[in-house]
This record gives sequence, C-alpha cells and structure tokens, in this order.
Amino acid sequence: MPTKQKWNLEIDESGIAWLAINVPGAKLNTLDRVALEQLELIVDQLNIDLPRGLVLYSSKDNGFVAGAEINEFTRIESVAQAQAHIAFAHSIFDRIEAMPVPKVVLIHGFCLGGGLELALTFDYLLAEDVPSCKLGLPEVKLGIHPGYGGSVRLIERIGAPKAMDMMLGGRVIPARAAKKLGLVDQLLAKRYFKVAARDFIRRVPEKHQAPKLQAHALKISWLRSLLANYLEKQVARRASREHYPAPYALIKLWRQFGANRDIMLAEEIQSASALFTTDTARNLVRVFFLQERLKSNRNQANAGDSGNIKHLHVIGAGVMGGDIAAWSALRGLRVTLQDQNPKSIARAMARARVLFKKKLKISRLVQAAMDRLIPDLNGAGVASADLIIEAIFENLEAKQQVFADIQARAKESAVLASNTSSIPIEHIAKTLDNPGRLVGIHFFNPVAKMQLVEVVKGRRTRKNVLDAAHAYTLQIGRMPVRVKSKPGFLVNRVLMPYLIEAVRMLDEGVNASQIDQVATRFGMPMGPIELADVVGLDICLHVAENLLGEARVPKSLKRKVKAGDTGKKSGQGYYLWSGDKAKKPEFKPPEGHTKDIERRMIYPMLNECVACLHEGIVASADELDAGVIFGTGFAPFKGGPMHMIQSIGREKMIDRLERLQATYGDRFKPNDGWEELKLFK
Ligand code: NAI
Repeated sequence: MPTKQKWNLEIDESGIAWLAINVPGAKLNTLDRVALEQLELIVDQLNIDLPRGLVLYSSKDNGFVAGAEINEFTRIESVAQAQAHIAFAHSIFDRIEAMPVPKVVLIHGFCLGGGLELALTFDYLLAEDVPSCKLGLPEVKLGIHPGYGGSVRLIERIGAPKAMDMMLGGRVIPARAAKKLGLVDQLLAKRYFKVAARDFIRRVPEKHQAPKLQAHALKISWLRSLLANYLEKQVARRASREHYPAPYALIKLWRQFGANRDIMLAEEIQSASALFTTDTARNLVRVFFLQERLKSNRNQANAGDSGNIKHLHVIGAGVMGGDIAAWSALRGLRVTLQDQNPKSIARAMARARVLFKKKLKISRLVQAAMDRLIPDLNGAGVASADLIIEAIFENLEAKQQVFADIQARAKESAVLASNTSSIPIEHIAKTLDNPGRLVGIHFFNPVAKMQLVEVVKGRRTRKNVLDAAHAYTLQIGRMPVRVKSKPGFLVNRVLMPYLIEAVRMLDEGVNASQIDQVATRFGMPMGPIELADVVGLDICLHVAENLLGEARVPKSLKRKVKAGDTGKKSGQGYYLWSGDKAKKPEFKPPEGHTKDIERRMIYPMLNECVACLHEGIVASADELDAGVIFGTGFAPFKGGPMHMIQSIGREKMIDRLERLQATYGDRFKPNDGWEELKLFK
C-alpha cells in the first residue's frame, strides 16, 4: 500500500510556498517517522528552487500539531535508536531554519511538543486568538525533555528564565500568554491567517529574540550556574531527581552548553536520547496512554460518545454536591442545585463564582456560567432534569428517602445517581420501583482537581444507565473508571490499608514525619499521615471501620476523632496545622529501617489491588493502574501498582508479603487472586 501523504505543498503565483500538514485518518496531527521522512523530501525540493517565503499551517480543523507520535516512543529500545531518530529530526529542522527565506507558521488549536519545536524553526509564529489555541513543550511529563532542538530555540526566542520555567513545568499555555512571553508574534482571527502571513513575508520584520543583554549575560558560565542552581531548587520541590530525571537533565544541558547554540543542539540529542529508555519515561508514557484511553472511552464497554445531558439536578449542596454542580455548570450544563439548607446553597454559589473566575477569567463568561447554575431550594428541577445526582450526607435511610421522593417526579428517562462513597448502590436502590435506573457516580474531593470519577455499577444497574453516567463524566471532562459496587469501590479500598498501616506505625512510635517522608520518597504525592489529616480523621475513621472492621482501626484514630482533633479542618490532627501547612516534628532517621516502613505501607495497597482485580471490581489491570494512579496519586513513574507488581515479579511479591505476615500479622497475608494473576503482555 502506498504511504499516504501527510503534507501538501503549493506554490502560489507570488512565489510563496504554502505547506499544509494533514495526517490522513488521524484526529490530530502528530509527527511520526513517516511524516519526518516526507518533510525531508519537501525540504529537499524547496531548497532546489527557493520560494519567496514559506508558510506552514495545518489543514485539520482541530489544530496544528499535537506533538511527536508517542506511539513510536514505545518502540524505541536503545539509546542508539533514540539518537538516530532524534538526530534525523534535527537534520531536517536545522535545514528548515537555515532556509534563507522568510518563514511564517500559522497556529490554531494545539501546538505541542515536536509541533512547537517545528514551529520554532520558523521566523514568525502567528496564532489564533482563542482560548483553545495552546502552545507548550510538555515533554517532561513523559519523562523526557524537548529533543528536536526546542530547548535551544525556545531559550533563544524568549530567554532562558521564561523558557526553562515553561519547559521544566511542561506547561501548556494559551496563545495569549504565549504572545506576552514573546513566543507568538501576533494573535489574530483564523480568517486573517493568510493575509497576515503574506504581510510578514513582504515586510520581513526583525525576528523576535530574547532580550540581548540577558542572552549575553547568560553566556557567562557562572551566571548561568547561578540560575541553574535556582531552577534545580524549584524543581526539587516538585520532583525528585531519582524518580524524575528529565527536568534535571534539561537544566544540566543548559548549564553546561548554554553558551554555544551548536554544541547545545548536538548535546540535546545525547541528553534526550539517554532519557528515552529510562523506566520513568516508559512508565510515564504508559500512564499517558492509560489516561488517553479512559478519557477517549475506547476502553470501557462502548459507552457511546460523549454524553448529552443538558440539565443536571443535584441534591445536597455540601462540599461535594456544590462542587459537582459548579464543575458541571462550568462545562456548559444547566444545573439546578437543591438543599434543605439555604445556607449550603449560598455557600456553594459563592464557591462556584470563585471557580468560574479562576477558570474563565472573562466576566461575561463568568456571568454566563453563574446563570447556568440555578439555586433550587424546593427541588423544582427534578421534573425536567436528564440526570439527578444525590450528594446528601452519608446515611442510607436518608438517601433512600430522597430517591423514594423523587422517582415519581423525575422524567422517566432521567438517570438517577448517588455520589455515595461507601454505601452499596443496590441498598440505596431498594426504595425505587425500578432499581435498575440507579448508578453510582463517585467524585473525589476536591472535584475541580481530581480528574478521576468512579462510575459504580450496582447489582441491578442497567447497562444504558451505566453508559449514560459514564458518558456524562466524559462530557464534563472527567476520567471515568467503571467499578463494581463493593465496599470502598476501588480507590478508597486500596488507599485505606495504606493509611491505616501508617497510623499503626505511628502508634508504635515511628515518627510521623519519617513515615510521610518514606512515602513521598517512594513517590506518593503526599505522606499518609498528612493525607489522613487533609481528608479528615473523622472521614478516615468512618471509611476504615466500614472497610476493615472496627478491630483493625488503630486506637489513636478513634481517640483523636473523639477529642475533636479531626485534622486540617480543625487545626489539629496527627499534626498541628497552621492554615494550609502542617507543622511536622523533626526526626533523625534511624539507619536501615526505611525499606521496612515503605513495604509495610505500600504492600498492603498492592495486595488489595490484586484482590480487587480478582473480584472484578475493575475489568482490567490497566484500568486498575489508571484508577489508582489518578485516584490516589500512586507514584506515576512506576506505571501503576499492577505494573509495579509485574516489575517485582509475582513470586517475589508473595514471598515478601508472607515475610511481612510472619513479622507483623495476618493483615499482610496474600489475598486471593495472586495465583491466577494475569498481568500485562
Ligand atoms: P456535606 O455534609 O458537606 O453536605 C451534605 C449536604 O446535604 C448538606 O448541605 C445538607 O444540608 C444536605 N442535605 C442533607 N439531607 C438532605 C436532603 N434530604 N435534601 C436536601 N439536602 C440535604 O457532605 P459531603 O461531604 O458533600 O458528602 C456528600 C456525599 O458525598 C456523601 O454521600 C459522601 O459520602 C460523599 N462523598 C464525600 C466526599 C468528601 O470528601 N467529602 C468524597 C466523595 C464522596
């Protein structure tokens, strides 16, 4: 089969070359090997007969270029292979840059990674003036750093401080912000693209570059080192060198070679290639694909395309209900918000305004979102809603009562959902004439930050109801994972043994700061003791009693809750809190203990994951990994708990659990499921 052309080159009557990219059959343009090979031929052709100017654009409606083809990353097996691939891209990009004609790139939609690196070889970057037009070099999120010359060219264009900040954080910014940084030369409506491109080619204005004085100063090695040290400190706050080597490699690259563009370009190839084959990069790429799959809905039971919920009614305007309502209104739904207490609604409306301002910025848009969110003390919205989510406090009878009351008033086609975090859906559904219409939609706190949503199938939940709930979460830009209605569903069930074992160690006399430090060194975003304080010790106690039984709940947890020391919200939990900050006690780390502490916390999680898979709480090891990474923050660079089990090996895992069991007790006993565990190919 002949390879399909991804580029289209036309020379107009004025001698300007118009080069369009459109990867056939793909939703987004990406740069794979074939695209680069075809581009090389075009560059050859252009160099034989130089045009008057060159304009690059995308003829796909939804955007410019989303990046290099990440699928190809997974096929790179050695550093030498990575070097060859990257060096090839460099050779083409260098030749485009060197072409002695004015070059303009026209950007709409996403311009990311390799796409932006290509754009940076052009003299002028023009971008569509809409919030959906976004630029960035997010490579560090995949465990690598820009490799197609982007590190050098972005620094040249906007200066090292701004460029490093953007690359080290993997930040993707709207075109307007990119204009302020000097990355984009002009913002305009798409319909003026071609006229503007011609104008730039005719005028040939000076190319935008970083301030000269700054660029000169940063050629001086000790000044560069000073800034590099500062950047390293900033990065160290977010990511450890051991787990996330890419940002450190990028700083090192610039520190060593930032004085000479040619050398830095050559060294970029070496530095980026060395990162490609690290476990971190492989695992982060895996997590990227898991996320894409959950978001694109390809993985799970054909839930249909995105949802078509127009009107959502939420009952219970507390922490969760209020925020679910606000998020859904932000994403364009009409939402009525009911609560028996008008003060709860008022508080939720105030929080919503803050959210809308933060996300939408423009006052007209904020007002439109506020108009979509309607206070509804008496629940008039029940009658016309397509979806009704109950988020009142965690009490079975009260929840049953709510559904018994609304079932007759709700439209027959309306989907009924509960945000319960621990009550089996089939129990709540008991008071319904048609229990098949109830589904769990379990959001996490804080709703605006936590992407994952557990879509919970009760024993009798109908498939179309499940699909509709699933589609709704996609409609509002969340990431659904389907789970069975068993206590704790997936995330809380996996998290709780970890939290409780940590508290237990604390009760045995291990220092709280040390426990937290061991967990964060392992790669958790926050230590378990701090997390327990943040979630609220009362909530932890409630969930732990439900899931693990009273006997396994550590005494200190009960004591603290009884004394009203519920954690961050009360100012005192296991830590003393001052606002958002916990005061952590000093400790001298005793030698040799930390592996044991780490395993005591992490292995019960892994053990629980195996049980969840065995019991069919989630359908696959992939979904489990994604759910646990996005629900608990489980060290993404390890690729997920099941992936970690796979790397350690089943036999070794069982052996280690049995040793923990012999030392610490039966709670470490390998769960059912280890024997028939099916992992990844
Ligand atoms: P909350 O206590 O902040 O809010 C509950 C709200 O429901 C209150 O405003 C109350 O006035 C209202 N309410 C109670 N009975 C009502 C009724 N019959 N009709 C109308 N309004 C009524 O509770 P929160 O934390 O928002 O939890 C709500 C649900 O979400 C619970 O099922 C909980 O298990 C679940 N959940 C909570 C999470 C959390 O971190 N807080 C996380 C995930 C789920």
